[in-house]
Amino acid sequence: MKILSDTKVVVHGLTFEKYISETEIQQKVREIGQALTLNYQDKAPLFIAVLNGAFIFAADLVRACDLDSEICFVKLASYDGTESTGAVNTILGLDKDIKGRHLVIAEDIIDTGTTMNHFIARLQQFEPASISIVTLLLKPDALKYDIDIAHIGFEIPTKFVIGYGLDYNELGRNLKDLYQLSEE
Ligand code: IMP
Ligand code: MG
Repeated sequence: MKILSDTKVVVHGLTFEKYISETEIQQKVREIGQALTLNYQDKAPLFIAVLNGAFIFAADLVRACDLDSEICFVKLASYDGTESTGAVNTILGLDKDIKGRHLVIAEDIIDTGTTMNHFIARLQQFEPASISIVTLLLKPDALKYDIDIAHIGFEIPTKFVIGYGLDYNELGRNLKDLYQLSEE
């Protein structure tokens, strides 16, 4: 990763331009945190952060909530033999009994919604009390499923973004702002 200027970075040979600033992100995270604080008083919610992309968002989100919350981190695997099917059939790291719990899913980005759609279906089999999805980013034009999303940080066009946990081939997660793939 090479920082070209205050607004441009190059990652694996592709140029990205600053898109949503750290300040805007933090403001949005605060707003969502305040809403969750009101909704989940005395419900002891369990946050489920979807690795790897949501690790930074989830860390900020739990601290924006004034709640006795718990958090766990899961990885979703979608393999059928050696082929990735897009269907989430394994949830790695779900080490808590979620039956009867109020779940808040923290996701970095919902694109086609395939991942989230399958993940929610799997979680429902464990009979939680409730599930709300919180995503920092949504690409509404790419969405292929009817998913009930409780909180969306930003709706963005169907263009590739990196930063604030999101990567391009594993790089760029540590950028404080969000960057969008440049058109040039
Ligand atoms: P979906 O299953 O199509 O909704 O894709 C969700 C996953 O694709 C996310 O959790 C990300 O890992 C990845 N993804 C989708 N769009 C982007 C992007 O713009 N930047 C980085 N990762 C993305
Ligand atoms: Mg993700």
